[in-house]
Amino acid sequence: MWKKILGFGASKEEQDLVSLYDKVPEDRRPRHVAIIMDGNGRWAEGQGLIRTAGHAQGVKTLERIMETCVDLHIEVLTVYAFSTENWKRPRPEVDFLMNLFSEYLDKKIQKMDDNHVRLRFLGREDGMSEALLQKMHAAVDRLAGNDGMVFNIAANYGGQDEILRAAQTLAARAKAGEIAPEDIDEDVFESVLDTAGDPPVDLVIRTSGDLRLSNFLLWQAAYAEFWFTQTNWPDFTPEEFVDALVDFAHRKRRFGGLDKKK
Ligand code: FPP
Repeated sequence: MWKKILGFGASKEEQDLVSLYDKVPEDRRPRHVAIIMDGNGRWAEGQGLIRTAGHAQGVKTLERIMETCVDLHIEVLTVYAFSTENWKRPRPEVDFLMNLFSEYLDKKIQKMDDNHVRLRFLGREDGMSEALLQKMHAAVDRLAGNDGMVFNIAANYGGQDEILRAAQTLAARAKAGEIAPEDIDEDVFESVLDTAGDPPVDLVIRTSGDLRLSNFLLWQAAYAEFWFTQTNWPDFTPEEFVDALVDFAHRKRRFGGLDKKK
């Protein structure tokens, strides 16, 4: 589809994604892209493998998409790696995912640093092991001075939980006399969310066919555009990612207002 939109005749494979994306006007590009990386289990089942093999393959996809985002100068990439509801999964699968996060930090921190990426974790810390938390904090600290893309990993994250935590923080400040309840506006509320400082989510991508938000970035995605694909996350490619970005570039966003008359 993007070939047609961008007016190119050559095949996707022959095109350089970066030079293609350069054709998209800057004011039509998403600043903040959020991804629900779904379908790892279904991918593994389709290959006759155990579910966790799907998560391992999913990390490889994540690496490629993260690098694509860096190349395309996306400001913020947020991925849903583990929800507050995912604790209900069998313990071995939970442990496998926690190990994947840990390994990812060991193996990929240097590359993130080379790419000037700033890393942040969204979500609750309770339930994560002390060793993993230490590694997460060290990684965040090491990359904190970078000035490139913000990479948010939502791990032990739920949108409702995030909003409740923000409300508690503000209630405590009000109780301590630090803030008046009537001064709590959108900017103040946003400043105590896990994504404080990030632009709102422009585009939510969900792989694997389900059409729901699953408690992801409920506040931040208030005016986001949605893009869904049947592709399972391990099979998702940079080319399909650019399809989503180009499709986004053609959306009419009204933010509750009316189309501007020419
Ligand atoms: C959803 O697929 C995927 C997850 C719950 C985990 C996503 C995690 C990764 C891709 C690894 C991320 C790693 C790092 C380092 C951030 P599913 O298991 O629900 O698939 P299914 O719906 O087909 O069962």
